[in-house]
Amino acid sequence: MKLIIDTDPGIDDAMAIAYAAAAPEIDLIGLTTVFGNTHVHQSSRNARFLVHKLGLDVPVAEGARCARGAGSHDPSAHVHGSEGFGDFTDVPQIGSNHSLTAAEFLVAMAREHKGELVVCAVGPLTNIADAMQLDPAFTRNIKRLVIMGGAVFCPGNITEHAEANIYHDAIAADEVFAAPPETVLVGLDVTLQTLYEAADFEALAGHSTDIGGFLRDISRFYLKFYKEIGGLEGCGLHDSTAVIACTHAPMFGMVETGLQVVVDGAEIGATRPDPSRPGIRVCRDVDGAGVVSLFTERVASLP
Ligand code: RIB
Ligand code: CA
Repeated sequence: MKLIIDTDPGIDDAMAIAYAAAAPEIDLIGLTTVFGNTHVHQSSRNARFLVHKLGLDVPVAEGARCARGAGSHDPSAHVHGSEGFGDFTDVPQIGSNHSLTAAEFLVAMAREHKGELVVCAVGPLTNIADAMQLDPAFTRNIKRLVIMGGAVFCPGNITEHAEANIYHDAIAADEVFAAPPETVLVGLDVTLQTLYEAADFEALAGHSTDIGGFLRDISRFYLKFYKEIGGLEGCGLHDSTAVIACTHAPMFGMVETGLQVVVDGAEIGATRPDPSRPGIRVCRDVDGAGVVSLFTERVASLP
């Protein structure tokens, strides 16, 4: 499967990119970056660092630095750290960004790999909405859009109403859901059933000393946030669960519905079923233990 991950790395993004590098079914043809967990220039630097560390030969195309109608973005540094990798703040600049913007790259790859390209969006949906605006054929050219985002049947995480990726650009998300490509939504409804604990990271690092050890080290900051704010003993494999949904759909129970996003007021970013809109597949159940063990099995095979 040809895959592009649109990402704001970000600790769980780093885990998802490592998983994609290890998954035999995935031909990762690029990363596109977006603001969210970090400023977009940090997302791009972190993505290029991960590409180098994982020994991948894939381009990184930089995208939006803020949401539709916003002038800037203020990352939640208390969740992923000031540089996006927890306590690892001395992230080197390796290589350079692709000459195309994220939206241009997404449109170009969708044309080049017509009918074959899966796009997995694990940050705010600004780049996806931009690609849809740039080329109306984009939604037909891609095979599928898999989104980590939303909280349709459960509370949110950035507010009680909204999940962070949707909240960070509610307008862009609503544009995507108004006229979606074939789409699967992997929201908090399922990603909080895939908690990864400190002991899981330690076991992973025992097998994969370099990559697993790096993920264990950067996860400490993230685990602390989940414990202190959420009272949870583990962090959600949010983005890895979305990447796994790209290739292992039978592990998920899905319902078909249109979605609309609340774009202003106290409930901004809420994702609501809307039968008047084109249907997308919303994940409602997951084999959580299966996702956790598949993630561990694949990433443990890395150096
Ligand atoms: O709500 C979880 C999502 O927000 C994940 O993609 C995480 O990386 C953050 O971007
Ligand atoms: Ca993310």
